[in-house]
Amino acid sequence: MTVHKHKKDLEKTVLELKSKNISIGLVPTMGALHLGHISLVRQALDKNDVVIVSIFVNPTQFDNKKDLENYPRTLNQDIELLKTASKEKIIVFAPTAKDIYNSNIQATDFSFDGLEYEMEGKFRDGHFDGVGTIVKRLLEIARPDNAYFGKKDFQQLQIIKKLVEKHKIPVNIIGCEIERDADGLAKSSRNMRLKPEYREAAPFIYKTLKSAKVKFGTKSANEVVKWVTKQFAKHPILKLEYFIIANAQNLKPVKRKSNNKSYRAFIAVYADDIRLIDNIALN
Ligand code: PAF
Repeated sequence: MTVHKHKKDLEKTVLELKSKNISIGLVPTMGALHLGHISLVRQALDKNDVVIVSIFVNPTQFDNKKDLENYPRTLNQDIELLKTASKEKIIVFAPTAKDIYNSNIQATDFSFDGLEYEMEGKFRDGHFDGVGTIVKRLLEIARPDNAYFGKKDFQQLQIIKKLVEKHKIPVNIIGCEIERDADGLAKSSRNMRLKPEYREAAPFIYKTLKSAKVKFGTKSANEVVKWVTKQFAKHPILKLEYFIIANAQNLKPVKRKSNNKSYRAFIAVYADDIRLIDNIALN
């Protein structure tokens, strides 16, 4: 498996691939890969001749220094896991921050037409500017035909679609379904840091989302929000940060339901000091 640690080496490879009309898929990651990532990689392998998997813990998208320091870094393990999907068709891009940002580790200011102010945007200052900055750079370096993102970060997915549209970047953005453990917990690199007691409690998040979906069939958004808030208020260890029912397109909270719109419920929960997010389509 080819592993590039420098931008210029990947750019050279991409130039060669393009000259041979070889299609490129990109799966951007921050490493600590799990089967959720591998599912994105497999979807990319299915539709592209070559798949570039970037592994880069992007400093500009962390508003919390401790979270950045504690973020798991497991490059060798990640490479071994990727080999189980393909040894020949995957190129790993694992640059250093200096290679990506030179000496200026700073995010660009973006406007995503208001998508950035909802939900995660209210709790993670500057997060989406950081995501926009790195994803735009990765798209410019890897020049993929298709790029793959999980729906667990649904707001991020909508923001990346907006980024590509606004900056006229020629790539298809593909949103992939959420991968879950057998007990329903959405797969995340953060799960490996959960203490056993919290890991055991965490499936409550998806269980509550599923009940919220059922309730949304007959109740108003407001009633469902109240019900979910109450469930978490009673929970002995999980702490709800937010639960919102929003329009799936513009991510604005729902005031009154209408039949021709699609809605999603979004949740962020603290399990000790680990922040978990999840979401579900409601209709
Ligand atoms: O979803 C992630 O892991 C990151 O936000 C991404 C898209 C790789 C950008 O750093």
